[in-house]
Amino acid sequence: MLLRVERMRIILMGMGVVGQAFLELLELEKADLYRKYGLHPVVVAASDSNSMVYNPRGLDVQRLLNHKRSEGTLHGFPDEVQGMDLVREVEAEVVIDVTPSNFRTGEPGISHLRAALQTGKHVITANKGPLALEMPALVEMFQHKGLRLLFSGTVGGGTPFLRFVGKCLSGEKIVSIRGVINGTTNYILNRMEDGISFREALREAQEKGYAEADPSNDVDGWDSAAKLVILSNWAMDLGVTLKDVSVRGIRDVEITEDMLSRGKTVRLIATADESGLRVQPEEIDRRDPLVVPGALNAVSFIAEISGRHTLIGKGAGGRETAAALMRDLVELKMYLGGVEPCS
Ligand code: HSE
Repeated sequence: MLLRVERMRIILMGMGVVGQAFLELLELEKADLYRKYGLHPVVVAASDSNSMVYNPRGLDVQRLLNHKRSEGTLHGFPDEVQGMDLVREVEAEVVIDVTPSNFRTGEPGISHLRAALQTGKHVITANKGPLALEMPALVEMFQHKGLRLLFSGTVGGGTPFLRFVGKCLSGEKIVSIRGVINGTTNYILNRMEDGISFREALREAQEKGYAEADPSNDVDGWDSAAKLVILSNWAMDLGVTLKDVSVRGIRDVEITEDMLSRGKTVRLIATADESGLRVQPEEIDRRDPLVVPGALNAVSFIAEISGRHTLIGKGAGGRETAAALMRDLVELKMYLGGVEPCS
């Protein structure tokens, strides 16, 4: 297959763990992206929480990464600019939003998405806040404008839960979803089985980079609830937002010797079924496929005819989420080139 090579100009909003991992992957995969998909990505602008850089000919990605790592900021980089509204003012094909998820206001992600819509840019996002709060409206607005809104990285880190249910189970009705979709709490509950305290296990999860900037989003269930909204809108077309989910976290969970000796444990389970959407700690048989170790995620999709399908994989981590962003970038290139990517 001959693919037309086109420059894809990228505005990267967010230079934290995921943003840096994405740039690293972009550098690593540059030659393959060009050869396999005719994709020539050019990062023209990037920002972190208090500084921004812009070069219409393309930033030197490796130098940018080195600068951010050594200085902890983009301040002082040769292409630094001030006071620009990057998403609105910079010409580009796609905005990649990897800013932190805020489940109360959706900001800054919602403003990035609105600005992209208004200026005709596609969006790839790993930020769960805007979708948790406004997914049905956002999806409709992007469709209406003929723009793509891609969000593989919002659920499951690098594990393609959304693509699995969207492509592999297409044509079948999904009647319910049940899953462990927060790596931090899964890690904590696994460590509590080993006799480690909740507080110590949370500290470990933070050190390993699984937890959100505000870890109460993980332990109080909001991160799982946001992902459940995204999954169930995508797989079951429910048209829901975060306010439709009943949410309880793991702060008061105890895992007792008695429970373990009965072959049971506790997991934070997210469910969408005929009685609604809920996230809550549940006692569960230790042989259930949803009982996975470490920070893994596991989701069971119950399809009307073919039954239960469970996918297990890494649900958190910078490199893993960056891999999902890369998948979306390739999908966007294929879409723009009129090619449906293989699933
Ligand atoms: N804090 C999230 C988790 C990161 O622990 O699953 C991935 O969304």
